[in-house]
Amino acid sequence: TPGSPVNMTELSTADSFAFAFDIDGVLVRGGRPIPEAIEAMRVLNGENEYGMKVPYIFLTNGGGKTEAERCIDLSGQLDIVVSPAQFICGHTPMREMVEKYKTVLIVGGEGEKCRQVAEGYGFRDVITPGDIIKDNEATTPFRKLTPEEQANSRIRNYGETKIEAIFVFADSRDWAGDVQIMLDLAMSKGGYIGTLSDTFDEGPPIYFSHNDIVWSAAHDNVRLGMGALRKTVETLFKNITSKDLETIAFGKPQIGTFQFATRLLQQWRKDEHRINRPPETVYFVGDTPESDIRGTNEFNEKAKNTWYSILVRTGVYQEGTEPAYKPQVTVDTVLDAVKHGMKREV
Ligand code: G3P
Ligand code: MG
Repeated sequence: TPGSPVNMTELSTADSFAFAFDIDGVLVRGGRPIPEAIEAMRVLNGENEYGMKVPYIFLTNGGGKTEAERCIDLSGQLDIVVSPAQFICGHTPMREMVEKYKTVLIVGGEGEKCRQVAEGYGFRDVITPGDIIKDNEATTPFRKLTPEEQANSRIRNYGETKIEAIFVFADSRDWAGDVQIMLDLAMSKGGYIGTLSDTFDEGPPIYFSHNDIVWSAAHDNVRLGMGALRKTVETLFKNITSKDLETIAFGKPQIGTFQFATRLLQQWRKDEHRINRPPETVYFVGDTPESDIRGTNEFNEKAKNTWYSILVRTGVYQEGTEPAYKPQVTVDTVLDAVKHGMKREV
């Protein structure tokens, strides 16, 4: 363009392929970047022998903050600018349920964060476990609200409030209290807290933003995740009522999450990179066979062979074990994954 600075090293943009990244165990561990991740992003942004930029998005099961806040965190960790338009976390697709339920219980995360996320999505009436404890402190015998929680929690008459659905947005900070309240509702007459059903089959549906039993954090060994909480709730319900409780999980490996990611990637390629055609290959880089590799492989079967699974050795998957779901390739780090994909393409 006349008047714009002359760029001596004009980069081309790859339009036939793209990358999608898991975050924990691939790019970040315990809030710190995995060193090769910073280099991997530089390579995709043009610092490579081909003089080429490659479009990419992020697809994590994590959550607990708004997408915009998570992108600020990730930008700082990876030394790039990450836009919410290229970012999906576990609870992102839950925003499509705001019309379906009016009054909802939102579980997990720090303080009021997840309530704010849910209200930002457009949920009209959001209750937290803290609200319920404030109304009746006998709900959780061993959990007392902090002065801050007291101040934030909202008083109302729960005998008259029908909770239509429960959404677990992020990891629980108080398993005992949150499990108690989820079970109270699952065993209630139609979602009215304080009631007890005769049949135990009329509680509100429970949605988890993902189903990872373990995940890769700062500790050397994997840590318990939301899938473990899900199992706990289901097992205890069965123990107490002798009935089965069926809950629902979003996130990877659900096909719907990969469909959501496909739409986001298409929009991102169009808006950011001016590419108007679908990619022939999307390289998905993950560390958890049960969510990342399983989801990519199953989606690939439906998506005309366009998704390609790459497993890294920096997270949940442990070298020397047999992954429950086999990737197309296993490499050491995310940098090797990026090099592998680019080498296949150019
Ligand atoms: O809680 C987050 C964790 O279970 C997985 O995150 O980025 O590995 O999908 P990620
Ligand atoms: Mg991971």
